[in-house]
Amino acid sequence: MDDERWNAVDEFISGTLLPDDPVYADVLRAGEEGGLPPISVSAPLGMLLHVLVRALGVRRVLEVGTLAGYSTIWMARAVGPEGKVVTLELDPHHAEVARANFARAGVTGTVELRLGPAVESLARLDDEGADPFDLVFIDADKPSYPDYLRAALRLSRVGTVIVVDNVVREGRVLDADSDDPAVAGTRSVLEQIGAEPRLAATALQTVGSKGYDGFALALVTG
Ligand code: SAH
Ligand code: DHB
Ligand code: MG
Repeated sequence: MDDERWNAVDEFISGTLLPDDPVYADVLRAGEEGGLPPISVSAPLGMLLHVLVRALGVRRVLEVGTLAGYSTIWMARAVGPEGKVVTLELDPHHAEVARANFARAGVTGTVELRLGPAVESLARLDDEGADPFDLVFIDADKPSYPDYLRAALRLSRVGTVIVVDNVVREGRVLDADSDDPAVAGTRSVLEQIGAEPRLAATALQTVGSKGYDGFALALVTG
């Protein structure tokens, strides 16, 4: 099994199951043309987020890490007319590309992009007494994942679902002695989730157009 086969199967899944809307390709192309890194979620994972939002009746989404807004748009198109996606981004250029993409996808009124370091934006949401979020997607800088999980818990209610991207990274998560802060961050967040009595959680390994990786899925239970 290799990446080429994984990529072809992702394309088959996308062509067979996913909505046939050219806006998603346009959004990725705008990111590429803007020089953004090609690290948006895969289309099948975008659709998983979309299905979760609809299946759970999610109205309020919190996303940490916007990039070109690709995952944001999958979720924004699922929250319904009363729904809202708050997405946090550090890089002003990424934010600019994302805002153009939100307009392209017709979700400008649904998405609130907050520019700045996510830990600060999260603290501000807390200070503002923001209503709890129904789903949180953590996908920004990996070393800060433990901080993001703590903030996500503060901004959650019983029943909130927390999805954490990139927790496998070709199996590097196994390396307890890694001096890569990204590996240490994803490993710590999994340990933190496992030790947290308020969470019921799992993690799944994935292969596909983004290589070999995985995501964690946690339910706030208390
Ligand atoms: N969720 C997006 C991909 C996000 S990539 C998608 O799947 O379509 C990670 C993003 O997090 C990048 O745009 C990066 O600029 C941003 N980021 C990195 N460090 C950050 C920080 N400290 N605060 C907020 N965003 C950050
Ligand atoms: C990277 C970040 C991501 O969120 C992702 O899905 C893939 C790769 C990265 O920083 O390399
Ligand atoms: Mg990711």
